[in-house]
Amino acid sequence: MAKSSIVSIGAYVPPKILSNDDLSRMMETSDEWIRTRTGIHQRHVALPDETTASLSYQAASAALKGAQMAADELDWILLCTDTPEMWTPATACFVQDLLKAGRASAIDLTGGCAGFLQTLELGDALARQGKTVMVIGTELLSRSMDWTDRNTAVLFGDGAGAVIVQPKPEQGIRLTHSRTFSDGSQADILQKPYGGTRNPIPPEIVAQGGHHRIHMEGQKVFRQAVHRMSDAAKQVLADTATAAQDISWVVPHQANQRILDAVAGELRFPTSKVFSHVRNYANTGSASVILALADMLIQNLLEPGQRLVSVAFGDGFSWGAALWDLLTLPPVEFVGRDL
Ligand SMILES: CC(C)(COP(=O)(O)OP(=O)(O)OC[C@H]1O[C@@H](n2cnc3c(N)ncnc32)[C@H](O)[C@@H]1OP(=O)(O)O)[C@@H](O)C(=O)NCCC(=O)NCCS
Repeated sequence: MAKSSIVSIGAYVPPKILSNDDLSRMMETSDEWIRTRTGIHQRHVALPDETTASLSYQAASAALKGAQMAADELDWILLCTDTPEMWTPATACFVQDLLKAGRASAIDLTGGCAGFLQTLELGDALARQGKTVMVIGTELLSRSMDWTDRNTAVLFGDGAGAVIVQPKPEQGIRLTHSRTFSDGSQADILQKPYGGTRNPIPPEIVAQGGHHRIHMEGQKVFRQAVHRMSDAAKQVLADTATAAQDISWVVPHQANQRILDAVAGELRFPTSKVFSHVRNYANTGSASVILALADMLIQNLLEPGQRLVSVAFGDGFSWGAALWDLLTLPPVEFVGRDL
């Protein structure tokens, strides 16, 4: 079956920036602590009138514009997020309406920070059947964050990314191979426990703002993230008989700089070839790999003939890696990007 490719990329971050100093006025933390522990200097956060659907729409519109494609050419919209527009219907349906993508079937997936790679694997499977697929990863965590919890609030930012995937094996970024995994037995290490059917939100928790709390055992997450992302990358290289030295760049989920450096160490890869812009955007969950890829293209770091490995890890736990071949440079637009 013909391979599919990413033929266009759109990205969006909101104009509002929250610096570490801003956070240190909101909670007991400091710029120095956040920088040294995470490499993060600032994050973009949504304006009051922005929502997950509006962020997604910005990124999706940019991807369509780059591809010079009309929205009604889309067969599918797959949207991955942990922060949906509402419980139901799917955020993807709101985006379908905003885009006026009249022919598209639209559905959400919840995959956490590895969600984009998982959703892309599904998009690839549809594209190989001849479909044109918009794969979107969006996170608006600032709206559902416990801003009194310094353990988690400093780590995340808002953003959206969108890629168009088509069965065009000679064009764009070819999705050569992908392996994604999950281990639900470790769900309790990183979760937002309130608001679902297991833990409806008790009024006293709402009153305390605790329903937004993310439970995270940071050091366990750190160790698992390094181990799982490195292993998945090795697996993808082994599956395709690819030597590490043939990889030009690692395009990782932007969790934090120490995790990225540790993954580079595990893979014996120079840290300079593990792309990072976590200092500007922090961890944007399902959006982060797309934002990284968009930024790399805009910074002219990529050229045809290069092979890339993307890695991601997040709640679930879910994780994975993908091998991409850069055949031609796809159009890219990154709205709101820091200069
Ligand atoms: C969260 C993380 C940065 C914490 O770094 P750490 O070196 O493990 O720090 P610890 O958790 O041991 O905490 C050390 C101290 O700093 C404190 N601390 C935590 N957050 C803080 C903050 N924002 N500002 C200041 N102090 C903070 C802790 O309360 C603790 O204080 P104590 O020793 O008095 O109890 C790190 O564990 C990490 O990066 N984990 C992975 C998180 C992640 O990427 N999640 C998303 C995965 S997709």
